[in-house]
Parts: sequence; C-alpha cells; structure tokens
Amino acid sequence: MNRIATLACMLPKAELHLHIEGTLEPELAFRLAERHGVAMPWPDVEALRAAYDFSDLQSFLDLYYAGANVLRTEEDFYDLTHAYLVHAHADNLRHVEIFFDPQTHTERGVAFEDVLGGIRRALLEAEREWGISFKVIMSFLRHLSEADALATLDEARPYLHRIDGVGLDSSEMGHPPSKFARVFAECRELGLPVVAHAGEEGPPEYIEEALDLLRVKRIDHGVRALESDALMDRLAAEQIPLTVCPLSNVKLKVYDDLSAHGLRKMLAHGVKVTINSDDPAYFGGYVNDNFVACVEALALTEEEVIKLARNSIEASWLEAARRDALLAEVDATVAQWRAR
Ligand code: HPA
Ligand code: ZN
Repeated sequence: MNRIATLACMLPKAELHLHIEGTLEPELAFRLAERHGVAMPWPDVEALRAAYDFSDLQSFLDLYYAGANVLRTEEDFYDLTHAYLVHAHADNLRHVEIFFDPQTHTERGVAFEDVLGGIRRALLEAEREWGISFKVIMSFLRHLSEADALATLDEARPYLHRIDGVGLDSSEMGHPPSKFARVFAECRELGLPVVAHAGEEGPPEYIEEALDLLRVKRIDHGVRALESDALMDRLAAEQIPLTVCPLSNVKLKVYDDLSAHGLRKMLAHGVKVTINSDDPAYFGGYVNDNFVACVEALALTEEEVIKLARNSIEASWLEAARRDALLAEVDATVAQWRAR
C-alpha cells in the first residue's frame, strides 16, 4: 500500500452513510438462515457472492431486500450490527451514523422494538468497548407510499428518544423527494434532523428538492450535482455535506470505472465531500477499502485524504466537544505519520 493509502487507513474517521442491512455478509446470511430453518435461494456462500453482479440500483435492491429476509430476531440484528462494528473499529472509525429500514422488517412481522433494540445493543457495546460513538437514522423506503411512511412514523413514536434522525432511500427514479415533503415536515416538527438520498441515479433537480422541500442537513450520494454548475456552486457556498460512496457508485454503474469518479472534482470545487461504504457486504468493501481504492484510482493527495477525514467528522451530528476532540485526534495522527 502506498504511503497516502496508509495515512488514509490510520486516520480517525466517521462513517455517515451506511445501511445496516447492507452489511449482511453471505456467511452471516447462511448462518441466520440455518438459525431459523429458512431455505436460501442460493446453494452456498460462493453462489450468493457471485450473484452480487449488478446493472443498476434496482438490481441491487432486489437482492438486498431478499437478503434481509433472514433477519428476524433481536439477536439477528445484534449479530449483524456487531459484525459491522468489528470492521468499523479495524478501520479506525470513531463515530458512525447508520441507517436502518424499519419497513423492510415490520412488513414481514418483525417487531420494531427487536430491530432497533438489537442494533442499539451492539452500538452501545461498541461505544463502551472501543469508544465508537453513534447516531441511528430511521430511513423511509421511497418506493412505498407517503401513507406508508406516515404509518411508519406513527409506529416509531414510542422509540423516538432512541432515533437521532430520518432518511430516505430505495429506488430513486420516479420517487422524487417532493413525494415525502409532508412526512419530512412532520419529522422536522418532531425535532428530528433529516437527510435524503438524492442524485445517485436521479437528476440534479432531486438534490434541489431535497434541499428546498425536505430541508435536509446532508445529501446522501449527490454525485449527479456535477452536471449542474449552479448546484455545485450552491453546495460549496452553503457547505452542504455529501456522503459519497465510491465503490457503491462503481458497483451500481453510476460510473463505469472508479478513475472516472467525480469525487476529486467535487473536493476541488470546495464541496464538503465525505467517503462512505453504503452497503459494504454487497459493494466490495468497508470505509478503508473505499479510501484505498480512491487513493489508487484518483491519485488523492495527502491534503485531500486529511480533508476527507476531517469532513466526515465535521459533517456528523456530533456535539461540539466530541467533534473537536476527534478533529484533534486527526491532527495528532497526521503528526505521528509525518514523523515516521
Ligand atoms: N441507494 C438507495 N437505497 C439504498 C441504497 C442506495 O445506495 N442502499 C440501500 N438502500
Ligand atoms: Zn445508501
């Protein structure tokens, strides 16, 4: 590994775009299927991994929702989240803000309490053991209706003290942010900060809708902003964070090749870009894998890698004292690396 990739891996970082259901590795999927006596549609781990060959977002989502079928109990969600946090710790993540999709589970009869309870039990343990702080973001599935989202918000009401924000994911084309303007207004009234996937496959206008109609604090993905100079200028001027997921973009054919990714152009434009893994079990890597791949394919500089790590912490929802402490950890790690 070259020296800049080594620095990227060492740096303390935050992950801000991670679907916990997308961390389900094939080995764990088969273990959970066995736990529940569920038949898997694939003969073995290798066959399932070989099926991770996607043509677009929808082809991935079909497999992602099928995979989630083995997640049934509080213990399953604990095991899933714990396995992710082992990777997070190894990658020097000091803070994580993770999405969960309650509708994927409650529709199958899994209790909201078990989903959130299992996820949080693992997060609290990682905070105690490894000092990884966290936020939990409840995400609505945009291919379902506004009424479904409102019903899910109602179901979540007893748990809102354990939910730190709200997001919007799933099939983007044909499901613009405007479809959820009223739901998000209600979430904001409840004091929940909101984010939304926009401009992954959808046009720049979806990013503008997310900003103007949903009043999001961050844009998830947002890479199609590169098609609009005016939007790029706005994102830079308002310092709106983008949670970019480079390996995801290649796997889902947003870019043919990582060398064509617009990440570096966005940084140069002054946009507050962060690097995240999205669905690491499906897309070929966790946060450090994404950093290493970008260093290699885009020839990121030392300054850019440090900026990306700092951005991840600054774009988080951490309270000021911890945010500043983590930024000081970045400085200390850079000094240590330079002294080697
Ligand atoms: N985009 C939209 N929905 C998702 C994604 C994504 O990258 N991952 C999981 N759900
Ligand atoms: Zn995502």
